Amino acid sequence: MYQTRIAGVGHYVPENIVTNHDLEQYMDTSDAWITERTGIKERRFFTENKDTTARMGIKAAEQAIERSGLHKNEIDFIIFATLSPDYYFPGSGVIVQNEMGFPNIGALDIRNQCSGFIYGLSVADQFIKTGMYKNILLIGSETQSNFIEFSDRHRNMAVIFGDGAGAVVLSRCDNTGKGILSTHLHAEGKYAQELINYHPGTRQKIRLTFDMLTDGSLLPYMNGNMVFKHAVVRFEEVILEALSANHLSPDDIDLLIPHQANLRISQYIQKRLGFPDEKVFNNIQKYGNTTAASIPIAFSEAWEQGLIQPGKLICIAAFGSGFTWGSALIRM
Ligand code: COA
Repeated sequence: MYQTRIAGVGHYVPENIVTNHDLEQYMDTSDAWITERTGIKERRFFTENKDTTARMGIKAAEQAIERSGLHKNEIDFIIFATLSPDYYFPGSGVIVQNEMGFPNIGALDIRNQCSGFIYGLSVADQFIKTGMYKNILLIGSETQSNFIEFSDRHRNMAVIFGDGAGAVVLSRCDNTGKGILSTHLHAEGKYAQELINYHPGTRQKIRLTFDMLTDGSLLPYMNGNMVFKHAVVRFEEVILEALSANHLSPDDIDLLIPHQANLRISQYIQKRLGFPDEKVFNNIQKYGNTTAASIPIAFSEAWEQGLIQPGKLICIAAFGSGFTWGSALIRM
């Protein structure tokens, strides 16, 4: 069996910065509340006619491919993780395939929300390990600011989410103990209703009604307290599961890159694992929660800051809507 290594990383965030103070103009919230509860100070929102989920993904992908040293034509599969695709269908992966001028390679969209990047990484890893593909482009990209309502009734979600994209190029390598050591994926669908966007789904004969435009039922719903309580348990559990599967301990991890859901969640995990600050990478302060894009954006920034050097053991972990969660251990 082959092994999968991360050959290149990249990211793109829209130029439009929205601070907590900006949000204060639209709803009853405050910089102090948002900072204390989430750690977020600002986020990026897409610019219409410039950024789309696919286009932001393409910008991140171009950087990742360039940094991998590969030629675009060496990519033989695309995986696109998002909960905010350009269209209801088809997926954004095919838009990337077309707009980047790839030949007719396969493109798969992944719908696993905040865990989407790790689910995508796991799928890519299986394809590469078995020899089916050699180089896979994995993108996580989100445009979330246009299905949030900037009002009091949606303030619990409006202050958390942001837009952006990250990408990695995954390449086949010989089995020398480097690369993706393991991925662990989980789901607990009984909590699907706790973080959900019901409408316009397919359960109703008339999927979009006039009432939905005003009564708030088009907006995503989040039981923040419930998400928080499950997240802190599952993050730790799935990180320890990864370590145990590889006969490693928390001390062996050089850098933990958690999905950027809430700074308090990351800090709680850090405390539970007994990590010093420099072992946990956080950038939610600048970008908010960018769902499937958060880990590859953070990975790319950590790489730019020189924190991801050859030989280092990197752990990534995520939890989100579904509920779904997962982890991966990567030896660089
Ligand atoms: N500004 C000011 N007040 C707000 C607010 C906002 N943006 N959003 C909610 N509130 C209010 C609530 O209305 C409530 O008021 P009340 O006590 O008068 O009823 C109060 O703040 C506390 O609300 P609560 O929802 O209990 O706060 P919390 O401490 O749970 O924090 C979250 C809210 C959303 C920050 C927190 O639950 C969280 O981060 N959860 C995890 C979310 C997450 O990670 N989601 C992504 C999935 S990966």
